[in-house]
Amino acid sequence: MTDAQDGAWSDLAPRYVIDAPRDAASTSIRPGSEIDPIAVWGRSAPLIAEIGSGQGHAIVHAATSAPDTDFLAIEVFKAGLARTMLDADRAGAVNLRLVEANAPEVLEHLLPAASLTELWVFFPDPWHKNKHTKRRLVTDAFATLAARALRGGGMLRLATDWEDYALQMREVLARSADFEPAFAGEWAERHDGRVLTAFERKGARAGRAIRDLAYRRVVSDPEAG
Ligand SMILES: C[S@@+](CC[C@H](N)C(=O)[O-])C[C@H]1O[C@@H](n2cnc3c(N)ncnc32)[C@H](O)[C@@H]1O
Repeated sequence: MTDAQDGAWSDLAPRYVIDAPRDAASTSIRPGSEIDPIAVWGRSAPLIAEIGSGQGHAIVHAATSAPDTDFLAIEVFKAGLARTMLDADRAGAVNLRLVEANAPEVLEHLLPAASLTELWVFFPDPWHKNKHTKRRLVTDAFATLAARALRGGGMLRLATDWEDYALQMREVLARSADFEPAFAGEWAERHDGRVLTAFERKGARAGRAIRDLAYRRVVSDPEAG
């Protein structure tokens, strides 16, 4: 990290970063470490999480545009989290918290079931070489964890500039009984809360189509065992 990012970490982390109990790895979450969102954000409000928030452009913009909603940035890239805190502090965002952790473990162990109103995954690492695609985030196992964290009627929003990953996302979510598409055509409209980031610009410059997807968490039937 740069000196400014180091400084941001020591000054701002106590206010912004959730100090999660770890398992073996430094970005893991120890099972049984569920937070109480009311205690963390100091109120009861809709909660939106972004996985892989990068430099924080989308989530800081969203947090400042929607003061009545709470936000959680989930990222493993510490310098990106430092940048996010600097921007959040400058913008006076008080409704944003960050966690430096592996996203699937956050969905499984840190967030209470049905605590999210929305979950965003914008431009996840594509792992586009054939031998690496199994490292992708959006898999059947991910859909199960996302469904756990989202409340019934909650939204899962995805975007990518890699066509084969967009197709993989669509196949995974079509297979999941926990989600239904919230778009009519082949792809969703661009989500208007999604700001243009360097990753989208790079994809567009390289001539790749930007694909948005949106799925609604199906409301579980309490009668069904
Ligand atoms: C391609 S970047 C996109 C960043 C941002 N969403 C944007 O559009 O600018 C993907 C981000 O996901 C983060 N990431 C990758 N795997 C992750 C994981 N398992 N848990 C949390 N963040 C992860 C990376 O550190 C990186 O910042």
